[in-house]
Amino acid sequence: MTAVGDKRLLRVLAGETVTPPPIWMMRQAGRYLPEYRALRTKSKSFLDFCYRPELAVEATLQPLRRYRFDAAILFSDILVVADALGQKVEFKEGEGPVLEAIRDGVGIDRLNPARVLRHLAPVYETVSQIRAAIPSETALIGFAGAPWTVAVYMVEGRGGTDCGTTKSMALSDAAIFCRLIDILVDATVEHLSAQIDNGADTVQLFDSWAGVLTGSEFKRWIVEPTARIVIRLKARHPGVPIIGFPRNAGNQYADYVRGTGIDGIGIDENVAVDWAARELQPHCTVQGNLSNRLLVAGGKAMDDAIDAILSTLGNGRFIFNLGHGIVPETPPENVARAVDRVLAWKGT
Ligand code: CP3
Repeated sequence: MTAVGDKRLLRVLAGETVTPPPIWMMRQAGRYLPEYRALRTKSKSFLDFCYRPELAVEATLQPLRRYRFDAAILFSDILVVADALGQKVEFKEGEGPVLEAIRDGVGIDRLNPARVLRHLAPVYETVSQIRAAIPSETALIGFAGAPWTVAVYMVEGRGGTDCGTTKSMALSDAAIFCRLIDILVDATVEHLSAQIDNGADTVQLFDSWAGVLTGSEFKRWIVEPTARIVIRLKARHPGVPIIGFPRNAGNQYADYVRGTGIDGIGIDENVAVDWAARELQPHCTVQGNLSNRLLVAGGKAMDDAIDAILSTLGNGRFIFNLGHGIVPETPPENVARAVDRVLAWKGT
């Protein structure tokens, strides 16, 4: 494990207040950068791109050359775990991910957890090459999708749905759905653990579809599987902080923080920052939550929103980020303006 000392992101995750706060952005690599679009043409498919360390390393480093980010995030995707388990996964141009949907126990029995680490070996090679390429003060973030969100893609076969098929399976075939979640908990622990072994300083769990569940379903399929992952990772890698991002979880963010044992909580842009400062920040480090649409707009509207976030959350343990990933139409100069504004902040 690397030393916390010179990495601002790790100091904040360990509970320190750092002024100005560290900054990175979800999807800081990707199509809004012309150099990424050029690099992307070197590979026929997106998954192939993710499995070629020379391309994935370069994509990870591109935003760091432009902006003073405090962290690099591994260039990969949450759906490599579904692919590694043996499900057919494709990324279609303009359509996003398309998977051969799993709808029953037979489909779940076909998954092969034994091949995950071998199949994802190129991802771990990427992590270790990024570690060697970045400065010692830059943190390296590994990541995975949380079991619920990966299960949604595996069952629906695509994104952009209301998750209705997955919810039905969870409600009417809970024993079968539970097997899928258990497989994903195990695979996620192995996948994140291998990233940490190869040089990731911290890991983030993306639960992009957490917002469709409430009450006991939220507890059973979001909080409990995440808590199991956290306990097992902490046993293997004491001191490595874990960030959770249960997007659109509303006031259930508080239950998530209390019930999972995560060290950092990513908040989406619908979370009121004063509520987060009161209800979440006393328990863990908060990360977020500039609207990715304001990053597209730029100008005074963006500046004012940045200032409001900083004045409410910046005086405690805080990581500046977006509420959701950078979208392709974002002007790169707006990212530079946002980073400069955050890093010029002197506290209030
Ligand atoms: O810079 C980074 O943040 C690291 C790379 C990263 C990607 N995906 C690269 C990517 C990360 C952290 C992800 C996470 C991810 N992937 C999530 C969770 C975060 C979220 O956005 O809610 C989800 C749900 C996915 C699944 C996924 N991958 C979708 C729905 C899509 C299609 C939509 C889109 O933005 O194109 C992808 C494709 C994808 N993943 C791209 C990138 C750069 C674009 C594909 C391409 O470049 O050809």
